[in-house]
Amino acid sequence: MYIKNLTLTNFRNYSEQEFEFANGLNLLSGANAQGKTNAAEAIFFLCTGYSPRANKDKIVIKNGEECAKILGKAQSIYGEVSVGINFYKNDNKEIYVNGLKVLKIGELMGNIHSVFFNPSELKLVQESPEDRRRFMNISLCQKSKGYFYALSRYNKILSQRNNLLKEPDTYLIKETLPIWDEQLSKEASKIIKARNEFLTEISPIAEEKHAMLSNGKEKLTMKTESGYYGTEEEIAYALKQDLKMGLDRDIRLGFTSIGPHRDDIKFTLNDMDVRVYGSQGQQRTVALSIKLAEAESFYNHFGEYPIMILDDVLSELDKPRQRRLMGAVEKMQTIFTATHIDRSVIKDKPARRIVIENGKIKSVKD
Ligand SMILES: Nc1ncnc2c1ncn2[C@@H]1O[C@H](COP(=O)(O)OP(=O)(O)OP(=O)(O)O)[C@@H](O)[C@H]1O
Ligand SMILES: [Mg+2]
Repeated sequence: MYIKNLTLTNFRNYSEQEFEFANGLNLLSGANAQGKTNAAEAIFFLCTGYSPRANKDKIVIKNGEECAKILGKAQSIYGEVSVGINFYKNDNKEIYVNGLKVLKIGELMGNIHSVFFNPSELKLVQESPEDRRRFMNISLCQKSKGYFYALSRYNKILSQRNNLLKEPDTYLIKETLPIWDEQLSKEASKIIKARNEFLTEISPIAEEKHAMLSNGKEKLTMKTESGYYGTEEEIAYALKQDLKMGLDRDIRLGFTSIGPHRDDIKFTLNDMDVRVYGSQGQQRTVALSIKLAEAESFYNHFGEYPIMILDDVLSELDKPRQRRLMGAVEKMQTIFTATHIDRSVIKDKPARRIVIENGKIKSVKD
């Protein structure tokens, strides 16, 4: 899959700008604060409806303007697809797929696929389990609307269960909870099963990618910490039992202490915890290996690669790792941003070079 063009209107520091991308390597360069990450962010928006960095949509509206627009057209093996998003000051947004307005964000998912890397994605390795769950959710939601809806329902039921746990009347809790737990376990089992399959699929690929990027010097191991395996029915049954057994503890804590909202992934490099012992370059390599593995999982799922968005990926990687990374994304359309790209890293690979200055394209060269 590749994105052919993108039009930004009053989006971040862009007034009106159209991009034409090549189905291969696209190098977006320019000085700091010119709009490279903003363009990368816009593409990711078209895929998921979310920003990888803003927690309020209206932030993307150009200062002083009322409304922002992103419109993009992508080509997949199944045909052409266009996605448009309009953002409004009251934090509302409208989403269009092939010109038709979609009412639920779930309907946007899966039309254009991308894998996004930017330095803040290092949270995937460095920070809390929530960031690792977010990674799994973003990938799985793009692959399956069923996952997206199960996750939405799960979060809703979970918050109702947590509210109930704070009730002073424990008799009421014990009376009502079995109904919630039945539904919670059902939705949870879909999430857990999909995550188990996803991690089983990508772990060996990420390990192989890491070995490649580090030239065989480092051995990555990925382990999930969910603790529930088997079919959806088996997972739902086991979780329901555990919820029942843990009820007194949950009442004491005032929240649900088990379930997919507590899942985590553990990464070790040469048997040491990457979060604690990894160098910055090693942590970046781990995050990249996972993203490269994620791209392969899209290929396995859809028969084509996603758009690889690599925003500011090179810093902290030594030249050999940079070169191996460039080799690893050769098969996919890549949107690559950097202030400066060393010629020795690109070598003579065909690339479209787009130079950005102050929210405008300054030059394009193939
Ligand atoms: N809503 C907005 N309205 C106007 N300008 C904005 C808005 N949001 C962000 N900007 C501006 O966009 C610029 C940053 O753009 P971006 O993050 O894309 O830079 P960059 O080219 O990726 O730079 P770097 O090389 O430092 O990563 C900043 O100058 C910021 O003030
Ligand atoms: Mg940037």
